[in-house]
Amino acid sequence: MFTDFKLMDDRPVYIQVKDYMKRLITKGALQANQKLPSTRELGMLLNVSRNTVVAAYADLEEEDLIYVERGKGNFVTPSAVGVTDAEALQVSWQVDWKQHLNELARTAEEEDIMKRGIRSAQGMISFTSIAPDEKLFDMNNFRRAFLDRMSLEGDIVLNYGYAKGYKPLIDYLLRYMENKGVDLAGKDILITNGFTEGLDIVLSSLNKKHGRILCENPTHHTALKNFKLHGFAITGVDIEPDGISLQKLELALSQQAFDLAYLVPSYQNPTGIVMSHEKRIAAARLLARHGVPILEDGFNEELRYSGSHVAPLIACGGGSNSIIYAGSYSKILFPGLRVGWLLADKELIDYLVSVKRARTIHTSTLDQSVLYQYLHNGYFEKYLKRAKAEYKRKYELAVQCCHSFIPCQRLSGDGGLHLFLEFEKEFDTRALLDSCRDKGVIFTPGTIFYTDGGGSNTMRLGFSRVADEDIIKGTKRIGEAVLQMM
Ligand SMILES: Cc1ncc(COP(=O)(O)O)c(C=O)c1O
Repeated sequence: MFTDFKLMDDRPVYIQVKDYMKRLITKGALQANQKLPSTRELGMLLNVSRNTVVAAYADLEEEDLIYVERGKGNFVTPSAVGVTDAEALQVSWQVDWKQHLNELARTAEEEDIMKRGIRSAQGMISFTSIAPDEKLFDMNNFRRAFLDRMSLEGDIVLNYGYAKGYKPLIDYLLRYMENKGVDLAGKDILITNGFTEGLDIVLSSLNKKHGRILCENPTHHTALKNFKLHGFAITGVDIEPDGISLQKLELALSQQAFDLAYLVPSYQNPTGIVMSHEKRIAAARLLARHGVPILEDGFNEELRYSGSHVAPLIACGGGSNSIIYAGSYSKILFPGLRVGWLLADKELIDYLVSVKRARTIHTSTLDQSVLYQYLHNGYFEKYLKRAKAEYKRKYELAVQCCHSFIPCQRLSGDGGLHLFLEFEKEFDTRALLDSCRDKGVIFTPGTIFYTDGGGSNTMRLGFSRVADEDIIKGTKRIGEAVLQMM
């Protein structure tokens, strides 16, 4: 005993000794009323100072794990001793958890592409990510924002906050959305843990009158997964170079009723397509005529490198209350903060606040408040300018390389952090991936984004975290592999 103690360098030594002894007691390795080594002995055994053991024993005594008998030494408190192996054997029972899991857990596991997805090995060029490049994060300004907010109200933001969100951040976002042309009358905001929680809260709260959701085909894989987890059937409507096909949308609406339409009008994932202003108006009008509320996903909206600004759908709706806008700081700033928002009808938000409170109480107030300070100080505008300049450069390089090296039939992506490639109908991008993997390059085959099992001739290339020379090398290798397969 006492031979397996290993010191970490960055934690107070007496706490490590205390935790070590605590483990021996609670795991039953030390017995009730067993005498512990003296402080000098244990110090020698563990190769720490005697004073360190004195401090550790004092804490163990305070926690009632050991007791002292004057003149005799330290002993293990009987009630602190964990179950013996024999006792543990009596209560042991191996649950077959698979039998206890429901459909939601099973579907979530089956659809978990992070587990089943393409693994990147060391040295591989990976076009699979569409996360921001952390090398662009301005750590000094984030640190400043953190210290500013902590000195102003650190004690308050470390306590419980409000389910609806941190008030200064909500007010900031209301102004932000107003600047995008949204009529705020009758609307309110709920802060969420990114877009994904916003979607989950909306889906959890919807009445499944028709049990069906309409979306673009292809679309965001996480959204499709969540529709399935919530038991909704999915109808995908094809996208054209200027957004959803209005004829096909009209046809789908005439054939079935829907509880919700999920649309990503700007720099859509995976196609990167921007829906034109005219189509936004026409699609919103069609959906309104058929009584289908819209969930608009504006996640990428700020990442525009050319063309003119197109107002979000919710800004086209005027005073109507049928559009829910979901925003997120995951692509345009820091995904690790997990902060997003829902802007929607006041009465709806009031219900969603209660759903949020019931599920997670609230989004971390510390994260929200530091983000608010960062935004308030004007750091976001500066960061976005720099990040956009860098992404625009990479975007243009990636487009140029795709045109030069990859003989695809169609390339789309008007902005954002990814491009989408389509090949001839019979072409199989999964087979292409296998061949590219051997050449040290990976990307995301398009099938996971499709609602109808299609898209086997498509692929998504995320370029945000790929170095310039790797964009060139990687697209060249993909192009060579395509030619070999043709
Ligand atoms: C279409 C779409 N919406 C939203 C998000 C962001 O989700 P979250 O805010 O939960 O990170 C992503 C991220 O990839 C996305 O592709």
